[in-house]
Amino acid sequence: MKTRIAIFVSGGGTNLQALLDAEAAGRIPHGEIALVVSNNPNAYALERARLAGVPGAVISKKECGSQAAFECQIQSVLELGGIDMIILAGFMCILSENFTKKWPNRILNIHPSLIPAFCGEGFYGLKVHEAALERGVKITGATVHFVNEIPDGGPIIAQQAVAVETGDTPETLQRRVMEQAEWILLPQAAEMVSQKLYEERKGK
Ligand code: GAR
Repeated sequence: MKTRIAIFVSGGGTNLQALLDAEAAGRIPHGEIALVVSNNPNAYALERARLAGVPGAVISKKECGSQAAFECQIQSVLELGGIDMIILAGFMCILSENFTKKWPNRILNIHPSLIPAFCGEGFYGLKVHEAALERGVKITGATVHFVNEIPDGGPIIAQQAVAVETGDTPETLQRRVMEQAEWILLPQAAEMVSQKLYEERKGK
């Protein structure tokens, strides 16, 4: 059986789309996108999931009332869905150690910089590119890493560098990093880890 993947999202979901497209094109042969979890009921990513026929679940942190209740609800949905692996694809919530320790080397995150630059708490979405432009770096990029209890601190799986160009705005830089790094790296890493988990299950 293929590795069952849950994708966690909060917004537009272009990385989710890259994963869905890769799966449809046969580029994630050992994995199956089985569930999309959003903390935001208005995320366009949910519409992308619906169009691809993938079930979506909305779990709002605000409505849960506490981090523990939020994570408890997420865990139940994952167990119900028989999920093997999680990909954070633009998921703008931090997960506690209590949650991440249940999924060792089974949660991937995509971050829009070359870690350890411009990462950690407070660095997300456009803010990362604003900080990179402010610092004046000439090269930035994206990183896929395993998730542990340290925000953006888990082992690095893959990185891709992207050039900053004269006149870049946070928006133009974000778009180039997505096109030249994120949308390529994330499906590749998804297949790599799916295959590893698939082999592990087969060996048991
Ligand atoms: C992406 O650039 C992703 O790398 C970033 O948010 C964007 C989400 O876009 N994630 C983080 O900053 C996590 N710290 P998307 O919803 O279109 O995939």
